[in-house]
Amino acid sequence: MTLLTVWPDTDPATVLTRTEDPAEITAVLSGIGVRLTRWTVVDLPAKPTSDEVLAAYRAEVDAVIAAEGYIHVDAVSITPEDTPQWREQAAAARQKFLSEHTHDDDEDRYFARGSGIFYLHVDGKVHAVLCEAGDLLSVPAKTTHWFDMGTTPDYVSIRFFHDDDGWVASFLEESVAHRFPTFDEITAAR
Ligand SMILES: [Fe+2]
Repeated sequence: MTLLTVWPDTDPATVLTRTEDPAEITAVLSGIGVRLTRWTVVDLPAKPTSDEVLAAYRAEVDAVIAAEGYIHVDAVSITPEDTPQWREQAAAARQKFLSEHTHDDDEDRYFARGSGIFYLHVDGKVHAVLCEAGDLLSVPAKTTHWFDMGTTPDYVSIRFFHDDDGWVASFLEESVAHRFPTFDEITAAR
């Protein structure tokens, strides 16, 4: 289940909202300009290629491209392996977007498998959206956010791009991200 947690951006100890109710989550996110859509989850191979994931969701992906004008779509996967090399790669991948940033392009992510948390820092609040299989989260360009995939990342995700370089991250000089519960902490507390 998708889980939304909201705190004041100054106080991670005060939970303003914590809900798994899909209608409530959609309503709260819609209030900050973020769209959450649900697709029916399709079975995939154990380690699917980008093409296999896109083929499984062809109709849904084409509808998003038609509606939003994306020119490039791909799917990325990360599956846990019990090797030091994998741990190193996973830690590096997690670190990449763990600090507050914005993009000049929208960040639309569909979770075909597994999970990840988008933290949206809007209107003086931090909204943590734990996305799970079936969730398409659409974060508008310029929205301040960060993303935590956890210390053992495990997901298959479809990404949409309007151009080749719009999705470069601009990091904020001062990030509040480190003050808020991590993916590991939020998922462990469920
Ligand atoms: Fe991002």
